[in-house]
Amino acid sequence: MHGGIEQKFGVLFVCLGNICRSPMAEGAFHAAAQERGLSCLVDSAGTASYHVGSQPDARAIAVAGRNGIDISGQAARQLDRDDFYRFTHIIALDRANLEGVRARAPRDGTASLAMLLDAVPGRRGEPVADPYYGDAAAFDTAWSVISLGANAWADRLLQKAAQLKA
Ligand code: 4NP
Repeated sequence: MHGGIEQKFGVLFVCLGNICRSPMAEGAFHAAAQERGLSCLVDSAGTASYHVGSQPDARAIAVAGRNGIDISGQAARQLDRDDFYRFTHIIALDRANLEGVRARAPRDGTASLAMLLDAVPGRRGEPVADPYYGDAAAFDTAWSVISLGANAWADRLLQKAAQLKA
C-alpha cells in the first residue's frame, strides 16, 4: 500500500488468487503512477482466499524483477467490504473476477468497477489470461498486457486529476 495525503484516487487490482496477475498489476501501476508524479493509493486483492498471506508466485516476482519492479514484499489478501469505500477504482483482471467483485459490492459502495484493459483503446472488456497453469512465457505475455493496462489507467487518472484541479 502506497500514497500520500493529497491523493485523489485509490486503485485496487483484483484477480482470483492475488498471487499472479493482480500483484503484477499493483507493481506495474505503482511504477506508472510514480513515473507520472500521480500520488495514488495502490493495492491488490483476490476474490478467493486460497493464498491469503502468501508472497506473489515466484514466476510473477521474476517477471516483474526482469522489468525493474520488485513485488516480493506483497502478501495476498482477499477482497473485503471496506475496499468498496476505501478505493475509488476496483479494477478486475478478467470477467469472472469482475463478476465476483460485483457480487460482493455493498449497495452503497462508492468504488467504480472496471476491467484492466478498459483503459486501452480498442481493448475494452478484454481479460488478462491467467498464467498460473502456464509456463514462463505465459508470465511474460501477462506482464506485457498488464503493463499496457496499468500505464493506460495511470494516464487516464492523471488526466482526471488535472481536470479536478482545473
Ligand atoms: P491469479 O492466478 O488469480 O492471477 O493470482 C491464480 C492463482 C492461483 C490459482 C488460480 C489462479 N489457484 O487456483 O490456486
